[in-house]
Amino acid sequence: MSFEFHTASAGQTERAGLVLGPLLRRGDVLALSGDLGAGKTHLVQGVARALGVEERVTSPTFNLLLVHPGRLPLYHFDLYRLTHASELEDIAFYETLESDGVSAVEWGDRFPGCLPPDRLVVVINREGENQRRFEVRAGGERSTRLAQQWLDAMSAANGVLP
Ligand SMILES: Nc1ncnc2c1ncn2[C@@H]1O[C@H](COP(=O)(O)OP(=O)(O)O)[C@@H](O)[C@H]1O
Ligand SMILES: [Mg+2]
Repeated sequence: MSFEFHTASAGQTERAGLVLGPLLRRGDVLALSGDLGAGKTHLVQGVARALGVEERVTSPTFNLLLVHPGRLPLYHFDLYRLTHASELEDIAFYETLESDGVSAVEWGDRFPGCLPPDRLVVVINREGENQRRFEVRAGGERSTRLAQQWLDAMSAANGVLP
């Protein structure tokens, strides 16, 4: 299962995350990739809002992992600064992914073999100053269902996207 969508502003990207958030369940893994400034963090900010996270969500680049309490805990990783897959153990990556919350992994394509196959992959391509193309791919049963629900919900919400 895969699909594409486009956004034309940071706010629209956040709205896409806002639509995805309510569909998420514990154990879900989002793998986000795209260059610096693509919009990975904006998408996660929308997801966070939907999960009822009240604190500000920023790129965990220097922290590698930021935990945000919400309806479900949001585990927000950024693997940009990791050089070896072995460092994932130092930040309890595997245990966290299997724990009680939703994991959003920026630069999730850095160590693809270290992520569970059943993950929702979101690749963001910059097509202009404010234009972004999103490629969404599911790698298993749960993520396929999630991708389908996200697509349906976005189609339904399209009329109200800013
Ligand atoms: N359509 C868009 N979607 C997301 N961000 C956008 C868009 N258009 C412009 N931007 C800008 O691009 C930057 C994206 O930043 P951020 O979400 O932190 O990216 P990343 O986490 O991928 O490095 C922000 O400055 C945002 O305002
Ligand atoms: Mg970021």
